[in-house]
Amino acid sequence: MSSDKDYWTQRYKDDLTGWDIGVVSTPLKTYFDQLTDKNMRILIPGAGNAHEATYLHKQGFTNVSILDISPIPLNKFKNKNPDFAEEHLIEKDFFKHKGTYDLIIEQTFFCSIVPQRMNRVKYATKMASLLSHNGKLVGLWFDFPLTDDPEKRPFGGSLKEYKNYLSPLFNILTFEKSYNSIPQREGKELFGIFSKKESKPKQANNPLHGITLKTILEELVAKYGWEYMDQKVRINCFAVNPTINSSLKFLRKTPWAREKVEQLYIRSIK
Ligand SMILES: C[S@@+](CC[C@H](N)C(=O)[O-])C[C@H]1O[C@@H](n2cnc3c(N)ncnc32)[C@H](O)[C@@H]1O
Repeated sequence: MSSDKDYWTQRYKDDLTGWDIGVVSTPLKTYFDQLTDKNMRILIPGAGNAHEATYLHKQGFTNVSILDISPIPLNKFKNKNPDFAEEHLIEKDFFKHKGTYDLIIEQTFFCSIVPQRMNRVKYATKMASLLSHNGKLVGLWFDFPLTDDPEKRPFGGSLKEYKNYLSPLFNILTFEKSYNSIPQREGKELFGIFSKKESKPKQANNPLHGITLKTILEELVAKYGWEYMDQKVRINCFAVNPTINSSLKFLRKTPWAREKVEQLYIRSIK
């Protein structure tokens, strides 16, 4: 089986590039035209002949990077745009790329990836990991069902399915049928704007964060009494002349018992 790089390079060699519309697409042009920060870091993965990048470059955007697994479209782009920064032409597998961007543009890239669930999850995760704080993923996703044919690109999907992958990682600002698609894609694509969800600091999810073992124990004893505690966590210091101090001393040096007490506390506050 050929690699993805070979597959796509062969498609360019054979001139089998039916996805290429030859100009910047109307929904993306409309989106670009309202952007004011011309220095924002923009990535176009699976960019192909990258008409969107040519447009942005001509509009004075200074920080646009295009990435593709095949060198053919990148070389073609370079010849067409000789003053485009060389370091912004990235020949690489998207899933191996590292970087930070304020905006990532999607167009007929998602639909070219073999539609296994794992690949689609990987796509969403990788997009999020490449975005800065407040970064946005913007673009077009095809809105038609998947066929069973593993070779039948473009691979489709639905609003519900895409949301499934994207909503754990992104806030959905807009995601609906595109109103201004090019005629051949009218009614067949969704336009979306997603902002990266900020991951909560780990501690914020920890119900024990900021609570001392002493407080935990005092609250548990006040709520349940020593007898109940003894039934739930079988340790001597709960059974024989129990006190907060002696129990604390034991729990601090006995991790398994401390864990049981903490779990009891978590259950008690749910
Ligand atoms: C269907 S074409 C779309 C090209 C372009 N976005 C457009 O709208 O014309 C898919 C592009 O993604 C590239 N591609 C596929 N898998 C890739 C990967 N894992 N990493 C980077 N590029 C990839 C292909 O080489 C191809 O240029």
